[in-house]
Amino acid sequence: MVKLGIIGAGRIGKVHAESITFNIKNAEVLSIADPFMSDEAAAWARSLGIKNVSKDYHDILNNPEIDGVLICSSTNTHADIAIEAIKAKKNVFCEKPISQDLAKIKEVMEALKGTDLKFQVGFNRRFDHNFEAVREAVKAGKIGDVHVVKITSRDPDAPSLDYVKVSGGIFLDMTIHDFDMVRYLSGSDVEEIYASGACLVNPAIAECGDIDTAVITMKLKNGALAVIDNSRKAAYGYDQRAEVFGSKGQVAVTNDAPSTAVISTESGVTGEKPLYFFLERYMASFSKEVSMFCDACEGKGEVPVDINDGLQPVLIAKAAKKSLDEGRPVKLSEIVF
Ligand SMILES: NC(=O)c1ccc[n+]([C@@H]2O[C@H](COP(=O)([O-])OP(=O)(O)OC[C@H]3O[C@@H](n4cnc5c(N)ncnc54)[C@H](O)[C@@H]3O)[C@@H](O)[C@H]2O)c1
Repeated sequence: MVKLGIIGAGRIGKVHAESITFNIKNAEVLSIADPFMSDEAAAWARSLGIKNVSKDYHDILNNPEIDGVLICSSTNTHADIAIEAIKAKKNVFCEKPISQDLAKIKEVMEALKGTDLKFQVGFNRRFDHNFEAVREAVKAGKIGDVHVVKITSRDPDAPSLDYVKVSGGIFLDMTIHDFDMVRYLSGSDVEEIYASGACLVNPAIAECGDIDTAVITMKLKNGALAVIDNSRKAAYGYDQRAEVFGSKGQVAVTNDAPSTAVISTESGVTGEKPLYFFLERYMASFSKEVSMFCDACEGKGEVPVDINDGLQPVLIAKAAKKSLDEGRPVKLSEIVF
């Protein structure tokens, strides 16, 4: 049994605590910590059978019973907590991104070097049933050599302006998942990126120095091309589709909906909108990624998303921002790491 501690009891900390408790047989959440732990959150944690509820994550790091920690706190705390956790000899599952600061990611990599600890980054979309099927088809050679990867990734609604201000910008906050998806589906690193952006959903987002709409093209190291289109608001809901086109064919997936019912009448043909947002669409993927982390902690294989997989999308996001700011294609090699 893998004994886990969860650091951060916000949205994603709660998702992981519940999915481990209800879906993962070889793991148990022993402790959860959050400096703003409310009585309500503590009662929720106890209702899941979590024995130790604390306001200080050091209680988790100092507990010799704990094998691994899930870092689910605010992004700006991830790297420092990860380094402390590594020093405390805990396996680490770190939510994305490891940090928005490349120097901090380097520090985490240094701390990890020479240890045999497991370190996984929370790029959960790799464990979505649709995207896994695309990757499997590509890996099995069913579509031949990869020529083009196309990703559509649109949120159902724009976040609050308070969130936008601290998000690190659309590329580090939202597109980062799509950058990971391009690497995952193509099996290749990125060579060069060109990003164009606009503020079409909410002009106040531009006043925060960000964009809400983007089209990004990439050249990959294996010679293939990739394109991502993003919007912070699709009127019909969470739009998450992918296609890989190759020398022998193409593989594509569409959105998940609550049902596949299509109603056809004299006035037209209608179906259900996509599942509302990431908590609905990607719930199963959150369980699967942590389940694989627990297996790795038990010595059954390697983590499926390692620290380099955590670093690369941050490098790509930095290159995308530079491209947007300078209005030109940017090579990844221009980003100093
Ligand atoms: N993989 C995904 O799809 C996904 C989805 C949502 C969020 N995330 C990531 O998860 C992280 C948290 O996001 P969220 O939406 O749950 O945010 P949130 O604001 O709901 O929760 C963050 C929690 O961290 C707590 N916290 C802050 N400092 C802490 C510390 N030092 N120790 C312990 N807890 C601390 C806060 O009090 C808060 O309760 C972010 O890095 C975000 O990028 C990933």
